[in-house]
Amino acid sequence: MAGVTLTVNGKKVTVDVDPDTPLLWVLRDHLGLTATKYGCGIAQCGACTVLQDGVAIKSCVTPTVAVSGKKILTLEGLPAAQKKALQSAWVAEEVPQCGYCQIGMIMATAGLLNTKPLPTDADIDNELSHNICRCGTYLRIRRAIHRAARTLAASRPQTRPKSE
Ligand code: FES
Ligand code: FES
Repeated sequence: MAGVTLTVNGKKVTVDVDPDTPLLWVLRDHLGLTATKYGCGIAQCGACTVLQDGVAIKSCVTPTVAVSGKKILTLEGLPAAQKKALQSAWVAEEVPQCGYCQIGMIMATAGLLNTKPLPTDADIDNELSHNICRCGTYLRIRRAIHRAARTLAASRPQTRPKSE
């Protein structure tokens, strides 16, 4: 077995695993980051979603060696302001039912907001189309994303046009 080095939640770590080991198991079993869930194991449900360099990926089908040298973010490592806005919005809209899919939904949302700070309904539907909620909370998720996006936008410093 060879060591694979990656950066998880801002910390550089080397794990002694088979390079093909799915990232999900490195996060959960080797690093103790259990927020990320196992659902299907075949990239169909999104429960295992994490960010790689700010973009959502399915960690259940991502060989650990493929993220060597990349920055991985899990729910545990989300920036505090973003995490608070997302969690508060999820609570305010009473999103979760069983809750199992929700970490993946939140991480997919974090990836979406990195590129589209104020997403449209279509942006949301497109980004989350590979995340499945068996409890059918999609409409509440959509409302929560809009709410979190508004909160985050309001907290950003406004840039004024330069006076002549
Ligand atoms: S567990 Fe990875 S997509 Fe379902
Ligand atoms: S809240 Fe139950 S699967 Fe989404």
